[in-house]
Amino acid sequence: MKGVLLSGGTGTRLRPITHTGPKQLVPVANKPVLQYGIEDLKEAGITEIAIILGNKGRDEIQEYLGNGSRFGVDITYIVQGEPLGLAHAAGCARDFVGDDDFVMYLGDNILNQGIEDLVESFQAGDYGAGIALQHVENPTQFGIADVDDGGNVVQLIEKPDQPPTDLALIGVYVFSNEVFAAIEELEPSWRGELEITDAIQSLLDSGHQIDSHVVEGWWKDTGKPADILDANRLALDERPGSRDGEIEDGAEVSGHIDLADDAVIEDGAVVRGPISIASGSTVMGGAYVGPYTSIGPNTTIKNVHIENSVVIGDSEVTTNGKIVDSLVGRGATISSSEGLLPEGRRLTIGENSNLKL
Ligand code: G1P
Repeated sequence: MKGVLLSGGTGTRLRPITHTGPKQLVPVANKPVLQYGIEDLKEAGITEIAIILGNKGRDEIQEYLGNGSRFGVDITYIVQGEPLGLAHAAGCARDFVGDDDFVMYLGDNILNQGIEDLVESFQAGDYGAGIALQHVENPTQFGIADVDDGGNVVQLIEKPDQPPTDLALIGVYVFSNEVFAAIEELEPSWRGELEITDAIQSLLDSGHQIDSHVVEGWWKDTGKPADILDANRLALDERPGSRDGEIEDGAEVSGHIDLADDAVIEDGAVVRGPISIASGSTVMGGAYVGPYTSIGPNTTIKNVHIENSVVIGDSEVTTNGKIVDSLVGRGATISSSEGLLPEGRRLTIGENSNLKL
């Protein structure tokens, strides 16, 4: 069994964060989204992994993952170029997969329960594909599966107007290599993409059994800033605590804390978990870091009260007042304009920024 992790896509819904880097490297609980996928594959015993790269962020992804040895896996890079759909991306892995079966994992998805059950269930039968499903509230926005009483998949539809069920295909699939022949026959959908959902329907039409598996734990497609904050909240609840950094006497620290080596919570700071603070970062006296916040590396937090937020890193957040529900890009500075004349907010705002003042 091999792994194919899709890391193309343009990340338009995460602008401006994705103007400078790929969405798959946005950190959730101080770990890039893509790394969750690598770890799930490894946990399921899959160490030969191809990363399918789009046109965006190729160098950054290769620089971060390298040959995979840091994560205990062996990584091959394949360039998809223009994102022509998930089935097109899967098709690019044909030579890499050879005669094997493979797991295809969308690189911007995070699952909390891993993928071992899905892989084992696929291997226990004679299936053309195995799909992971979850009940969703907005089934018109996903690929949807219709499943009979015996759990057999009878139909798959991409973003149906009238969904037959609320069971969405989430971003993990297991395929036999029969899928490549199905992909070759596909026509682009209404949105101009080769849909993986259509490839699975075609396997079904040609008489293959499709295994389905309803995933119980949480799952997040991290397409939008609010999804990153949600995923961060869910992941912080699970992340193992560590107090490797320094908590000075006089700091008030409670709850679940992940404090990296070389991070400092200073005397007079108040920190309430669950939170994660990466290495080289400091929470200074007078600042408050509240629940569900991740502070990336080499960042100074001063004066501010911040909660339910992700600060990606290399930042100075020193303003007075409160910051909530925020995603702060790498290298951003948020300082105070108090005392400066004329009074008012002073902004240097990048393209596609989104402010609520
Ligand atoms: C894609 C798939 C869809 C699936 C979803 C899961 O949608 O086409 O079937 O339900 O991922 O995140 P997209 O993100 O391309 O809209």
